[in-house]
Formats: sequence, structure tokens, C-alpha cells
Amino acid sequence: MPDQDPGGPSPAHTPAGYDGAVDHYTSPARRDAVKRLWEEPASRRVLDHALGQLPELPSVRVLDVGCGTADGLALLRSTPAWRRRHAAGAELRYVGLDLDERLLQVARERHANDGAVSFAHGDVRAGLPVEDSDLYLSSGVPYSHLTPQELELALTGILRAARSRPHPVAVVVDVLGRYSIEWTTRWSQRRWDYRMSFFRSDRDAPSTAMTCYSGEELRATVRRAAERADCLLSRVDSADRSVFVGRHTSTGEYTQGLAPYRELVNALTDPSVRVDLDRLHFGLELPDAPEEIHEFFAAFGAAWNGLVEQATRAESAADDPDVIAGELQPQLADRLCRLEADHQRGLGVGHSLTAVAVTRDPAGPA
Ligand SMILES: C[S@@+](CC[C@H](N)C(=O)[O-])C[C@H]1O[C@@H](n2cnc3c(N)ncnc32)[C@H](O)[C@@H]1O
Repeated sequence: MPDQDPGGPSPAHTPAGYDGAVDHYTSPARRDAVKRLWEEPASRRVLDHALGQLPELPSVRVLDVGCGTADGLALLRSTPAWRRRHAAGAELRYVGLDLDERLLQVARERHANDGAVSFAHGDVRAGLPVEDSDLYLSSGVPYSHLTPQELELALTGILRAARSRPHPVAVVVDVLGRYSIEWTTRWSQRRWDYRMSFFRSDRDAPSTAMTCYSGEELRATVRRAAERADCLLSRVDSADRSVFVGRHTSTGEYTQGLAPYRELVNALTDPSVRVDLDRLHFGLELPDAPEEIHEFFAAFGAAWNGLVEQATRAESAADDPDVIAGELQPQLADRLCRLEADHQRGLGVGHSLTAVAVTRDPAGPA
């Protein structure tokens, strides 16, 4: 796979904010309960939907933009849609593109014996390393590094390439949600200096500019890119992930008085720990935002508090510490997780927001 930058590793070619990224991405502690039981299944559902939009192909070509250590590949391979295709004999041809040579090095080592997998060092703003992909993957909000204009241009290039494919192509666009409760002090801004202070690393996390999107803003960006690329889309869907449990709920860095929901939910799943359920109550004062955002949080917050209150009553009735920590609290974690899956509408109210755009079948009805 040709590198866009044959010069090899160079700090000038790594995005700001990623000092400590290798430590974080290779730390087993990164896969906490919220990540395993809540975030990965949510991402898997989105990728399953995206893959499900493609026709049955003997070989599915994937370009993972901002692949990092290639977590997106593992997720994709674990989707029901891929398992079914694989069982029917389909192959996966995967190219991971990333700006950070240190993360790519980890990815290359992990996939050294996998002939269907290759990696390219490069910047998505400078073009694509391959032009014939069927699925453009992204996970872990790589597109938030780009300004809104850069994202529109990058998607224009992707959709131009997609237009020339003889069948529908799916493009997954993963960004930070604009209206996450993790950063209420930043809701009025679209692009702001973001610190990955939750990295599991000894190094200090520097800040880097990131763009956050509402669902409407992201879908509009995708549609403008499609128009510029002269590419017809059959649908653009979006999904929120980690509505109350993003990693910045544990740092409290951008919202005053925010409960450390992620830590609390992680603790709920641990049968040796008893959580004070009062701490899970949601009652945050929210700043100005579009009406649909406030409506969402009013309904979601009430449903969340309802589950917490129901669990509090069940704990009083049980009155047995082992039953409470070992059964009732894990059950509450599971119900809160399902609440998010059922309520999310792709508004940009979670830590991350993912859009899936599907190009129209060139051979289909106009
Ligand atoms: C938070 S990481 C996510 C990595 C991986 N996709 C995952 O799910 O774990 C975001 C990645 O985007 C990459 N990235 C940022 N800007 C980029 C650009 N302009 N072109 C290519 N990759 C970029 C970063 O180097 C980083 O590896």
C-alpha cells in the first residue's frame, strides 16, 4: 500500500493531542465495562447497518479513515452482517489510513500475518490511498479533527470515488456530539480546544482543536458534499453513542457539577462494589440549545431517573448487600444501557455521533 508520506514517522505528521495515545489504545483498562457492554455494541449496530446496505459482494473493500490501531476492523468483523457474508464465502479487503505513524505501527504489528489487511500513512485531507472502496469506515471520532470545511471537502472526495462504483457504497462518518452533557460550557461553539485528558497515560494530554456536530449539522454536511460530488444518496442516518457515559463525565473538565456517570455505571457492573444510587440522579442545568435538544434531555433524564428510582426501591425491599451489588445493580446498568439504545435519535447529544450515508444504486430506479 503506497504511503502518502514516504518519509516515515515524524512528529510533524502526527495529529496534535495524541501524545500518550499508544499507551491509551494498548491499555487493557481502556476496555472498561461501559466500552465493552455499551459502546462497542452501539458501534457494532451502526456498522452492521452500514454493511447491510451493500449488495452481496464476493469481496468487500473497506477504507478505515483515521484507523488508529484498527479497532474498527475488529468491530466490523464481529457484526452479524459480516459473519453472515463471511460464512457465505465473502472476503474482506481492508485498508487503514491514519496520520499517526505510532498508532499505525501498533496496527501493523497486530495484523502482520493478515494478508487482507494493509495500512497507509497519510492525511485524509490530502486524498485517499485507494479509490475503489465499498465501505468507508470511521470510529473514534477521527473526522472531528477536521474543520467543518475540511470535512465537507474530504467527504466530497470520498463521494466522488463512491459515485464511480457500480453499486451502492456506505460512508460512516464518526464525530463528537455537539450537545454532550460532558461539555455544556462548549455548546455555543462548534470547534474548540479539546483535551484527551482521559487517556490512560502518564503523559500530560495537550489540547487539540476538535469540531462537534449536531445531527442536523452533520447530515447537512454530508448532503452538501454529495451535491458537490454530484453523487446521489439514498439515505443518511445518524446515531448517538454514550449519551450520559462519555469518558469526559469522569474528568468533569468541561461541565461543572457533572456526576462521574461513567465511573458510577462501571461500578454498577462490579458485584464487589455497592454504588450510592443517589449519585446517578440527573438534574443538570443545561445552557441554551435548540428546542429538540432540550426536549430530548427532559425525556431521557426523566426516564433515566425513573430507572434509578425503581432500582432504589428494589434495593430497599431486598435489603441484602450481596443481592444489591451482585444482582440489582448490574441489572440497573443493563437497563440504563438499553434506555440509551432505545431513546437515541442521532441528535448529537452523546459523546459521539455517527452518520451513515448510502449512495443510490446506479442501476436502480431514478
Ligand atoms: C481517537 S482516534 C480513533 C482511532 C480508531 N479509529 C479507533 O476507533 O480506535 C482518531 C484517529 O484519527 C486520526 N486522524 C486525525 N486526523 C486525521 C487525518 N487528517 N487523516 C487521517 N487520520 C487522522 C488520528 O491519528 C487518530 O488515530
